[in-house]
Amino acid sequence: MEKMNVLVIGGGGREHAIVMALAKSEKVGKLYAAPGNGGISKYAECFPVKATDIEGCVELAKKLSPDYVFVAPDDPLVLGMVDRLNEEGFKTFGPRANAAILEGSKVFSKALMKKYGIPTATYETFTDADKAIKYIEEQNSFPAVIKCDGLALGKGVIIAKDMEEAKDAVNSMLLDGKFGKSGSEIVIEEFLTGPEVTVLAFTDGKTVKPMISSMDHKRAYDNDEGLNTGGMGTIAPNPLYTDDIKAECMEKIFMPTIKAMQSEGRPFKGCLYFGLMLTPKGAKVIEYNCRFGDPETQVVLPLLETDIMDIIEAVWEEKLDTLDIKWSEKACACVVMASGGYPEKYETGKEMSGLDEMGQCGMADTFVYHAGTKLENGKFLTAGGRVLGVTATGENLKVALDKAYKAVDVISFEKAHYRKDIGKKAVK
Ligand code: AMP
Ligand code: GLY
Repeated sequence: MEKMNVLVIGGGGREHAIVMALAKSEKVGKLYAAPGNGGISKYAECFPVKATDIEGCVELAKKLSPDYVFVAPDDPLVLGMVDRLNEEGFKTFGPRANAAILEGSKVFSKALMKKYGIPTATYETFTDADKAIKYIEEQNSFPAVIKCDGLALGKGVIIAKDMEEAKDAVNSMLLDGKFGKSGSEIVIEEFLTGPEVTVLAFTDGKTVKPMISSMDHKRAYDNDEGLNTGGMGTIAPNPLYTDDIKAECMEKIFMPTIKAMQSEGRPFKGCLYFGLMLTPKGAKVIEYNCRFGDPETQVVLPLLETDIMDIIEAVWEEKLDTLDIKWSEKACACVVMASGGYPEKYETGKEMSGLDEMGQCGMADTFVYHAGTKLENGKFLTAGGRVLGVTATGENLKVALDKAYKAVDVISFEKAHYRKDIGKKAVK
């Protein structure tokens, strides 16, 4: 069998998990990454090209001639990297810009949901600060949810507890330009309550195959306190996502979204991220992302039993309906070790102990996904806010969590911070 070489765009824990899934594939030959990171460099040849450098990545692809390019992060997808790679004749995994807009513009995604009756919070959009503030005053319902239209590194959502905070949020977006162009239009929406569930789904634009569900932990500190982060830990499957809810989501959310995008002439090919809230009135969409979640991927892909390359090919060839995707019955947990101070100011360049030459911890069923590390003179150094995603599988969630936390105990770096309650809500 002729093996396939794959270039993965991105350099975080999610990309490390994707690279590891590809490394397990019998169909995959060489692995490349741009820019990759310290941990990824042990499994893929890394090239110092930024994921947002569209033309730089296209040039790299021309040099390496991979069989597939897997574009993992949101910015290059929204900026049209897949379109450019396809123009140059490369096969890809990831949506084109006209479908990635599902994450790139909340105004677009809210309007799509309204038009096609997909359950989500009711909303209005504004470009004028006075009109936005007047609307919030009329609604007089707090907390008020105020969102930037565009990408904002996960910081473009403000939940304002009173009118003063709401005014500050509106002004920071529409008047002060704190979020640049991303905040030049805003969405103000109904505040929903209920537990959150992430469902990632493979789709070729026609068929949708949801993966195992997961639960993120977005706040920096235990008991969901502190600032929002990119995600401090995850578990899969999410026990709150029952078979009934799964069936409801397939019927009312997943299929309608895929069909809506098809009807709009924007077929979505790749991984679609459904951020759901299980409200008293049923499951509703909080957000779509046009890519694998981080750190959701770190707990979902280790449970994938089907060869990921078979899925990538089926999505590209639009034959996902012919593939039976198999999942392990096990559970998986990921605890993120972050730099002290993250998501605000933090230091980097700290040496890590407890990792072997491959950047792993040597424990059974345990994998250390590198999120922000670099390799210098053979040593792993911290190089980002989220540093490691310490991940383990087990026959149930409790076992997986115990294993992950045992590994966290042996790994250390100066001022390392991690949550001690990942998965606590989910373990009975
Ligand atoms: P997003 O970036 O859209 O995922 O929003 C970040 C977080 O804000 C979500 O994970 C939710 O916890 C919260 N959030 C967003 N929209 C709402 C809403 N309409 N009601 C309640 N919480 C929300
Ligand atoms: N973990 C949340 C995200 O990937 O957007």
